[in-house]
Amino acid sequence: MSLSISLTINGQPRTIALDDPRVTLLDLLRERLDLTGTKKGCDRGQCGACTVLVDGRRINSCLSLVASLDGADVQTIEGLADGDALHPVQAAFIEADGFQCGYCTPGQIMSAVGLIKEGHASGDPERVRELMSGNICRCGAYQGITEAVLEAQK
Ligand code: FES
Repeated sequence: MSLSISLTINGQPRTIALDDPRVTLLDLLRERLDLTGTKKGCDRGQCGACTVLVDGRRINSCLSLVASLDGADVQTIEGLADGDALHPVQAAFIEADGFQCGYCTPGQIMSAVGLIKEGHASGDPERVRELMSGNICRCGAYQGITEAVLEAQK
């Protein structure tokens, strides 16, 4: 049985034919739509590398089934910049050196965009670290990440 799922991805309407209802949003983005900016780390909801926004809220796309997302609005890292102009959160990560190897960076940035959209902006570094705690950086670039999020919230 094939399911037909309608999604908006980075502003573009898409109709997805699903033969397998177990396909995750992460695998759809990376393997069928070539949106490989969203990273696969743990594939079990523990690292945050796969963070995207669904209807403006942060989710781990590795835990989200496409079959449950009919009608959803999905934003990935590829949809943030406006042409050559970086999104302010992307610019803040560069300015504050909020990364080292960069693998977790798309998830970190999407999480930061999400927490601002969710109205959780805070000038308190401890609160920012708590709000970003679902996003692991194995390089330990947390100081720069926190500075970037604080800067982006201004
Ligand atoms: Fe989804 Fe790690 S890949 S949380």
